[in-house]
Amino acid sequence: MDRLSIALILALAAASVSAAARPKCVLTGFWINDLGSNMTINSVNKKGEFSGLYHTAVSATKDEIKVSPLQGSQHRKNEQNQPTFGFTVNWSFSDSTTVFTGQCFVDEDGKEILRTTWLLRQEVDKLKDDWKATSIGSDVFTRFQ
Ligand code: BTN
Repeated sequence: MDRLSIALILALAAASVSAAARPKCVLTGFWINDLGSNMTINSVNKKGEFSGLYHTAVSATKDEIKVSPLQGSQHRKNEQNQPTFGFTVNWSFSDSTTVFTGQCFVDEDGKEILRTTWLLRQEVDKLKDDWKATSIGSDVFTRFQ
């Protein structure tokens, strides 16, 4: 067996060991949702706080989509293994803000699933338009391995 094959096998083994060792529903990592949007969540601190980056696949605007920062926290009370969480995306290419709230579930195959509900707030010019400025929806995220 050549060196490249050995290196590849070792890398795959290391990746599967680290995935198996990772505690379930700590949100750190790469996620993709039903729209094809993806997000990267950095390390979660002791208080459950995290930051990350969101790359949406869709937009309500015509502006060029850009990767945008997110800030959030997940519940750490009792170290429950299916915690609730929330995060805010401050869109870098539009005037809008989205807040997501949800819960991480572990299904019967051990797969982590984030069930979320979001509110997308768009900026409007005048108070009279406030009624149409907020939309609501839901997204399901799975880990992008
Ligand atoms: C904008 O349109 O001004 C910013 C992008 C909004 C993208 C929304 S947020 C909720 C939904 N889920 C996604 O992954 N993308 C859309």
